[in-house]
Amino acid sequence: MRILVTGAGGMLGADVARAAHAGGHEVVALARAELDVTDAAAVESVLAAARPQAAIHCAAFTDVDGAQGDGRERAAAVNAHGAGTVARAAAAAGVRLVHVSTDYVFDGEQPTPYVESDAPSPRSVYGQTKLDGEHAVAAAGGSHAIVRSSWLFGPAGRNFVATMLDLAADRDEVTVVTDQVGCPTYTGHLAPALVALASAPAEGVHHVAGAGACSWHDFAIEIFRQAGVDCRVLPCTTAQIARPAPRPAFSVLASERPGAPVLPRWQDGLAAYLVARNVHA
Ligand SMILES: NC(=O)c1ccc[n+]([C@@H]2O[C@H](COP(=O)([O-])OP(=O)(O)OC[C@H]3O[C@@H](n4cnc5c(N)ncnc54)[C@H](OP(=O)(O)O)[C@@H]3O)[C@@H](O)[C@H]2O)c1
Repeated sequence: MRILVTGAGGMLGADVARAAHAGGHEVVALARAELDVTDAAAVESVLAAARPQAAIHCAAFTDVDGAQGDGRERAAAVNAHGAGTVARAAAAAGVRLVHVSTDYVFDGEQPTPYVESDAPSPRSVYGQTKLDGEHAVAAAGGSHAIVRSSWLFGPAGRNFVATMLDLAADRDEVTVVTDQVGCPTYTGHLAPALVALASAPAEGVHHVAGAGACSWHDFAIEIFRQAGVDCRVLPCTTAQIARPAPRPAFSVLASERPGAPVLPRWQDGLAAYLVARNVHA
């Protein structure tokens, strides 16, 4: 089938375009310079010209701390209104939409993994704009899958693994929070699942993340272990590091949907990422 990818210049979008090609699909991969999703006329004319059967919407304003300050309006414009613009145009053109969302729609207060029917309650502006985007996609009335994922890392973008490896090149210890727990997810594993959902008759919200869960502190330890890097990981709490946007303390995602995509363990995602980046222990 022909699949259009928005945000194709981003970390996930690049891997989605790659996975769609690898799956034998014809791919129309559009970075922000080629399609600004806040421009309704551009979105409509691109869909009319490309005539895809499905679109995978990876474009987003992803600066979580920026959205809490000066970026608030841009976050709303892209994540909420832009998602609605893409979804309405897709619905009008009969194009199935796979829309990417986030664990940050949850407040992180629940002691057990979040499933699709748990009530969202975002703590940050970013999370609220992503939830508004989900609502706009659902309201557009077209065929759609909303995929919430979490803690993404991939070779095409800045991410926690890259940051840890960069820090370890300059110092022999880093300090990382122990009190935020989630599911690290390799974009190389998530992308094929999104491509599969582009042609699956599965409507509504899906939770799709790397299997297992850990804290950022555990994640850092595993990064250095797998990469063969000698760097101590000291523990700290979220309260000890001031960041503009609050993060959920516990945002482990699980699925209650029969037949939901199941991704490999996050440790296997990390191993695949290190291979993709040519990092060897
Ligand atoms: N990163 C994570 O940990 C994480 C976790 C859960 C869910 N997600 C979701 O996963 C999706 C992909 O995120 P990512 O990590 O790949 O982020 P990313 O690397 O920042 O990619 C997002 C892309 O969207 C583009 N974009 C921004 N505004 C746009 C606009 N108006 N029109 C078209 N494109 C625009 C960005 O371009 P510029 O760089 O030029 O602005 C960027 O290339 C997003 O929906 C995000 O909310 C991410």
